[in-house]
Amino acid sequence: MPTSTAKKDNSTFELKVADRLRVLRRLDVEPVVCETHGGFGRLFTRVYSHIKRGMVFEHDPAKAAKLGLQRPTWRVYEADAEAALAESVGKDLAVNLLDLDPYGSPWGFVQAFLTSRPIAGPLWLVVNDGLRQKLRLGGAWHVGCLADVVARRGNDLHDVYLSVVEEMIVELAAKVKCKLERFAGYYCGAGKQMTHWTALLLPLKPDVPPIAETPAAEPVKKRRRKTKP
Ligand SMILES: C[S@@+](CC[C@H](N)C(=O)[O-])C[C@H]1O[C@@H](n2cnc3c(N)ncnc32)[C@H](O)[C@@H]1O
Repeated sequence: MPTSTAKKDNSTFELKVADRLRVLRRLDVEPVVCETHGGFGRLFTRVYSHIKRGMVFEHDPAKAAKLGLQRPTWRVYEADAEAALAESVGKDLAVNLLDLDPYGSPWGFVQAFLTSRPIAGPLWLVVNDGLRQKLRLGGAWHVGCLADVVARRGNDLHDVYLSVVEEMIVELAAKVKCKLERFAGYYCGAGKQMTHWTALLLPLKPDVPPIAETPAAEPVKKRRRKTKP
C-alpha cells in the first residue's frame, strides 16, 4: 500500500531522471521501454519522449487517458500492472528497459515481468523502491516478498536493504535463467527511505548439449618394409 510519506516526497524526481538518462546512455540498441507506473507521464516528458517503442501501465483511468494522448506510438494499458504483466500482456514486445516507479514495493511487478516472458537479450531495470520505509523498527517480517530473506538474515534489514535488493535480484534472475551483470543503488528522499537501484540482467547462454563422443580412432598400424633377401 502506498504511504503518505512516499506520496508527498517529490525530492527524488531529478534523481529518477538522472538514473534513467544514465541507463539510456548505456543502451547501445534502440530502447524499448516498459513503464509499470505511468502516472502523469512526467518521466516520459523528461527522458522517453524521443522513444518510439514502449508500453506503459496505469490503473487510474484519467491518468491512463492522458498517457494515451501523450504517446501515440506506445501501447498504453489502463490496468493493474502486476496482474497484467503476470498474464503476459505485452509479451511480444522485446523490452530492454524496465522502468518501475511505484509508491511502495516494486517486487511484485519485477517478479510478474520476469516470470511471464522470455528474456532474450540484455534487460536494464531502473527502479524507485519504496519498500525500505516498512523495514524500520524490524518490520521486515510483515512483508511477504521478504519472507525468504528474513528466514536467512533475520528481521533487521533496514540498514542493509541495498544488499538485500542485490541478493533478491540475483535470485530472481537465476530463476529466469539470467545473471546479474551490473548493480548500483543508493538511498534518497525524506529520511533516506527511498531506494533507487539499477540492474542489468543478461540471459545465460542456453545449455549446449554435449557433443556425442566419437569412438576412439583405431591406431594406424605401421607396415613393415619388406627387406630384400
Ligand atoms: C509515483 S507515480 C508514477 C509517476 C510516473 N512515473 C511519472 O513519471 O509521472 C505512481 C503511479 O502508479 C499508479 N499505480 C499505482 N499502483 C498501480 C498498479 N498496481 N498498476 C498500475 N498503476 C499503478 C498510480 O496511480 C500513480 O499514478
